[in-house]
Amino acid sequence: MRFYEDLDNISINRLPQRSYYIPENEGAYTLLNGRWRFHYFDSETDVTDSISGWDEISVPSCWQTLGYEDPNYTNVNYPYPVDPPFVPDRNPAGIYEREFDVENAGNQTYIVFEGVSSCVFLYINGEFAGYSQGSHLQAEFDVTPFVKKGVNTLRAKVLKWCSGSYLEDQDFFRFNGIFRDVYMLSRPQGHLTDIEVLAEKCAITAKFSGSANVTLCDGEGRVLETKTGQNGVSFAVANPVFWNAEKPYLYTLKFESAGEVITIKTGFKTVEIGPDCALIINGVPVKLKGVNHHDTDPYTGWYQTDEAILNDLLLMKSLNINTVRTSHYPPPPKFLNLCDELGLYVVLETDLETHGFVTRVCGYGYDNDNSDWPGNKKEWTKSYVERMERAFERDKNHPSIIMWSTGNESGHGPNHYEMVKWLRARRPGALVHCEDASRLGYLDHADVYSIMYPEVYKNEAYSKEQNNRTVEGYLTNPENKQPLFLCEFAHAMGNGPGTVLEYMDFCYRYPAFIGGCVWEWADHTVVIDGVPKYGGDFCEGTHDHNFCCDGMVTHDRRLKAGSKEIKAAYQNISASLNGTDFTVTNLYDFTNLSEFSLKLSVMADGETVAEGDYTLDVQPKESRELNVAALMENVTGCRLGAYLNASFTDKNGHEVAFVQHELSVPKQSREAPRSALALTETEKTIIARGDGFVYEFSKLLGGFVSIKRNGKEQLVSPTKLSVWRAPTDNDRHIRKKWEWSDSDNQSGENFNKVFSKVYDCRTDNNVITVTGSLAGISRKPFFRYTAVYTFFIDGTVDVSLSGSVREDCVWLPRLGFEFKTILENSRFSYFGMGPDENYADMRAFARMGLFHSAAADEYVNYVKPQEHGNHTNTKELAFNNGLTFTGDGFEFNVSEFDALDLSQAGHIDELCKNGAVNVRIDYKVSGIGSNSCGPALLERYRLKEKQIEFAFSFGLTKE
Ligand code: GAL
Ligand code: MG
Repeated sequence: MRFYEDLDNISINRLPQRSYYIPENEGAYTLLNGRWRFHYFDSETDVTDSISGWDEISVPSCWQTLGYEDPNYTNVNYPYPVDPPFVPDRNPAGIYEREFDVENAGNQTYIVFEGVSSCVFLYINGEFAGYSQGSHLQAEFDVTPFVKKGVNTLRAKVLKWCSGSYLEDQDFFRFNGIFRDVYMLSRPQGHLTDIEVLAEKCAITAKFSGSANVTLCDGEGRVLETKTGQNGVSFAVANPVFWNAEKPYLYTLKFESAGEVITIKTGFKTVEIGPDCALIINGVPVKLKGVNHHDTDPYTGWYQTDEAILNDLLLMKSLNINTVRTSHYPPPPKFLNLCDELGLYVVLETDLETHGFVTRVCGYGYDNDNSDWPGNKKEWTKSYVERMERAFERDKNHPSIIMWSTGNESGHGPNHYEMVKWLRARRPGALVHCEDASRLGYLDHADVYSIMYPEVYKNEAYSKEQNNRTVEGYLTNPENKQPLFLCEFAHAMGNGPGTVLEYMDFCYRYPAFIGGCVWEWADHTVVIDGVPKYGGDFCEGTHDHNFCCDGMVTHDRRLKAGSKEIKAAYQNISASLNGTDFTVTNLYDFTNLSEFSLKLSVMADGETVAEGDYTLDVQPKESRELNVAALMENVTGCRLGAYLNASFTDKNGHEVAFVQHELSVPKQSREAPRSALALTETEKTIIARGDGFVYEFSKLLGGFVSIKRNGKEQLVSPTKLSVWRAPTDNDRHIRKKWEWSDSDNQSGENFNKVFSKVYDCRTDNNVITVTGSLAGISRKPFFRYTAVYTFFIDGTVDVSLSGSVREDCVWLPRLGFEFKTILENSRFSYFGMGPDENYADMRAFARMGLFHSAAADEYVNYVKPQEHGNHTNTKELAFNNGLTFTGDGFEFNVSEFDALDLSQAGHIDELCKNGAVNVRIDYKVSGIGSNSCGPALLERYRLKEKQIEFAFSFGLTKE
């Protein structure tokens, strides 16, 4: 057994974990980030004392993103055999070396690593000075005995794997190196060794060992009191101002001791569970609108700069997120300082996941009681408990933390229970989170009932137990006595997530549903030559494809429709319209709506006809009515639709909430009665000719083969009926029933290989009637229809489709007409849901309006190309070359890409434009959901009707 496989060797000379702080006095802190000498060894057994041929690299960093080793993305599977505590014989090592100066050799000198994967051996001036494992946990070494005044040499030997790797099987790229800050502290003899600050019950108390002069300041920096204390001080604070995520008010304590200055911020906050199982923060029931955050960057892997962290947290705040679960390890300390300052509730999870034990034998199974699981083994107890302890002790002073989590997906055994007991003894009353305990029935080992990806609704067909794991089932079962918390929901992979509102609806209706965290914040990718890559792109031994690309924001932190959907679902203002009464409800917990400006605008056919600006004094959880009669008077009729838009903005002009209501005003009928257009029939085609247009309809194909406007051809391909969409990541299960694929030619309806059959195509006066069917290759027809085209003298064609879907056919991806038009039609305007892509279950953020766009602007570059760019509820779509569609709420899609090409591409650089504008005019498109990991798409969002009636018109505008 090698040293780092021996479970007795978790650390050597590592100091007991203390709370995070950095002394501020001159000379105390030397950041050692920067250029280091580096040498990579394929095997740690090759490492020699004297190393020649150093490279130079930046620290912090991950050696895989610097080109030493290829990245490896794996989710559940361990990237090596499951034979704990043993790791592969060939265990790569990175040797890091640099000099550092010690000015005051009379001081105590410490070297602190904020994060090293997977373990670090520390050498100072050639002497072994310590060892630690626990990648995302802090390791501090007292190196005083090893240093001398002047220049010293620090060498760190970092191994790819150690026994601790078994506890770090999180779903991410497996990176290695010194990936967080590393620094030296020079501290006077007799300095404070730890500080614990508690702000409770009108007092701020600090515990420490030694003597200190402590000054308390309020949130405005005013000194409230100074005290000298031995081993602790306590300040009475009359009428304390509380900290919460909306108003993150912090007090500051300044400790002066032995010539050191240390600042720690604190905040008053109470967290408890109410009798109705509500989460009560500072006496107010709060809903957690959260997200799971991994530290991830497409260029630096696990290392996020301070700016990147700040950017993440600010972006979260701007998306109405108030909670972050640090999945599945403690973040860099600065992350938590920022959560305190900016206001985010934190579920602090320690660095622990052993998911790969479910696949240690073939198949997948939580045989949690099996003695193979390290959570059940005595020799692992220390490793487990220590991980809880190190996380807690580092982060115990953060007001932002509202819950402590024992880790993720590790089963639940005695070692987990030891962690829970340790935490409960260490800080009685602190809320404990442990999803495994909830799932496996150890309810009293956690304070909230935490589940992942539940279905929303109960199901008649389910057992009592299964229903208890649905949101509605849990909430309506009086036997349940714990708050419901979704540690993960709304799996945001690719195009999605949809179906988020339904969860929030239950959340507001039931006090016991305290909220949840979207999975997850950002896509994990490694960008190579401008192309984001994922699992399988690096010849990994085992990998999980693009399952790492499941962020609600992209890897480079751009927003997508799913981000905006979450923002809308999480928004803290709702409004209803009843006649002319507009009622605004404040869903914030601690914020009066008077902090926001409200702009109301009445829009008719996309034009603003009236607006007004308001400031509403509405207390949290209260409502207020506003009579909007005067505004609404301005709209008496419209052609396409009239709406009342309400936009709430903060003092920086950022929109925090948007609500839209359709106004019921009379619609002008579209046109005067039109006269019929006579058609000419030839052997193969039917021609419709009029002033400025000629249409040619193929009897063979049952569709238009030519649409000419003033002699200019508009079509690049015939119009046809189709149902295919490039599967989204969330379609990954259902697609097996949809498509023909190389690996499975038996399970699908083969919608990607459809034959169109025309049984009959006849003309009667100005009407063409087609009867036909669609069938996937090798299958019975799945759709039989009659399509009727009625032609008018002005060139308008009314299209009506009436059809039936085979009873035993799977629900459809979509259904509608498809054609390719000329590139001159790239630009278009529409009256419908926009401006971003939207789907039946992902459009809370979208709004009805008149929008202008272009095929290229409709493209959304999901890491793995897939369906995108849909618009629902369209009333009119007009291409800039004159081709115009009108209808009552059809869906459309305009793209530079063909759906079949989109389906094939694995990465954005594999996509080719096909030289035309690809258009869909759809009856319906199925919703998005989050079935990549979450539940199947709700029935109501599936295109599962068996009887289809679809009508719209098209024509050409006059030049
Ligand atoms: C969960 C897990 C996460 C992530 C997610 C899938 O089961 O806790 O870490 O793997 O699934 O993206
Ligand atoms: Mg996992």
